[in-house]
Amino acid sequence: MTEIKPLRLAVFIGTKGRGSNLMAIYGAMQEGRLSGEVALVIGTKPDAPALLRAQEAGIPVAVIAPSDDYEAKLLIALDQAHANTIALAGYLRKLPEAVVQRFRNRIVNVHPALLPAFGGKGMYGHHVHEAVVAYGCKVSGCTVHFVDSEYDTGPIVLQRTVPVLNTDTPETLAARILPEEHAAYIEALQLLAEGRISLEGRRVMITSGSPRS
Ligand code: GRF
Repeated sequence: MTEIKPLRLAVFIGTKGRGSNLMAIYGAMQEGRLSGEVALVIGTKPDAPALLRAQEAGIPVAVIAPSDDYEAKLLIALDQAHANTIALAGYLRKLPEAVVQRFRNRIVNVHPALLPAFGGKGMYGHHVHEAVVAYGCKVSGCTVHFVDSEYDTGPIVLQRTVPVLNTDTPETLAARILPEEHAAYIEALQLLAEGRISLEGRRVMITSGSPRS
C-alpha cells in the first residue's frame, strides 16, 4: 500500500499543450473533488500556453530549459515546492532518471489511447488519434499510467474507453476522449492521495472501500 499523502503535485507541461488536463486537475482541487494542491507547474518555455494558463490562475510556475544541469535544476525546484507527486500533462520528453528514481511510483501520465497500443516515442497528440482511426479500431480511450524510464510503458493505473465511430475524424475522436482523460486523471490522482494504490509486479491493485483520508 502506498503512503497516505495529501498531494503536493508538480505538473510538467509541454510547449504546445492547451493545459486542459492541468486545469481540470486544478479545478477539481479547487472544488474539493481532489485532495491536495498544485504546488508547481514546470515547463521548458515561458510562452507555453499551459504555463500561461497556470500563471493566470495564480499557480506557481517554473521555467526550466533542458540543459546540462536540467536534472539538478528540476530536483531543486521539486524540493523547494515540497512536491510529493508528479503528473505529466502534455510533457513529451523523457524525465531525467534521477527524477524517476526520486519519485518512483509517484509519477503519473495520461495518454490519449489504450496502451500498450498506440503509444511510444512519437505517439502523442493528433498522431495517436490519426493512427487509431486509420487502423480502423472500434474503441479507443485513455490510459493513466505510472511513469518509468521509457515512453508509455509504466504500469497502468486505469483506463477509460470510448467508441470509435465510422464517421470519426481524428479531431472528433480526440474531442470524445479528452473529457475521459480529465476524469480518469482526477480519479487516479485521488486514489494516489488516498493511498489506495499498490503494485504487484506490473499490476496496479486498487483497494476498494471507504477512503482513508
Ligand atoms: C493530452 O491529450 C494528453 O493525453 C497528452 O498530452 C495532451 C495534453 O493536453 N499526454 P492538455 O495540454 O492537457 O490539454
